[in-house]
Amino acid sequence: MYATSLGDDGAELGPLEVWHAGELLAHIDRGREFIGRHVGLPDVVSDLDGARAWLRLYGEKRAADTGSLHGIRLDGKLVGGLLFRVWDTPSGVCEAGCWLEPAAAGRGLVTRGLRTLLDWAFTERGMHRVEWHVSTANEPSINVARRLGMTREGVLRENFPHRGVRTSTEIWAVLAPEWRRPAAGH
Ligand SMILES: CC(C)(COP(=O)(O)OP(=O)(O)OC[C@H]1O[C@@H](n2cnc3c(N)ncnc32)[C@H](O)[C@@H]1OP(=O)(O)O)[C@@H](O)C(=O)NCCC(=O)NCCS
Repeated sequence: MYATSLGDDGAELGPLEVWHAGELLAHIDRGREFIGRHVGLPDVVSDLDGARAWLRLYGEKRAADTGSLHGIRLDGKLVGGLLFRVWDTPSGVCEAGCWLEPAAAGRGLVTRGLRTLLDWAFTERGMHRVEWHVSTANEPSINVARRLGMTREGVLRENFPHRGVRTSTEIWAVLAPEWRRPAAGH
């Protein structure tokens, strides 16, 4: 299938569609505890039907141009994903998100993939603002926002009930005039 290279280490950004449901479930099973600490994805992708339904939801978003989903693969193996959970062309505002299985963390896969996607959002799609919503307790994800040059705009206090605990959400964003794609490195 088609894919976009993220570097010389076998990392690629590629499609994540309904027919990948088995691959997605196996990947989430490898990272269920790690991924679920701050996000609800593992609860949604709890079995094959759940995986199919979630992939279908994103297929429908893509068809309506209201969101999209992208797999991160290392040497062909699905190890994570990136998404535009919200994509609103009329206002030029979208919200990005990400996850990795633990074995794939610490290699810059998400940062590299998001640089590619944000470049596309700003330059090809004419978006004006990319948002990042992250739990105040999720330091690795806050670091992703920092590496992308986002600005911390505020906190929604105790807005997100997750696994029996009310968590707070930081809102980060980068605007089109602020976007500069770093040539290399972190
Ligand atoms: C959030 C999450 C994706 C961050 O993973 P990550 O591996 O830290 O992020 P990246 O893929 O961007 O990698 C950055 C790390 O790789 C290192 N790195 C290596 N090569 C790099 C490169 N070329 N570019 C950038 N960073 C690089 C960085 O130094 C950093 O490591 P450090 O934190 O030890 O300094 C991961 O913790 C996760 O999946 N968590 C569970 C799901 C979740 O919380 N999702 C976010 C919801 S808002």
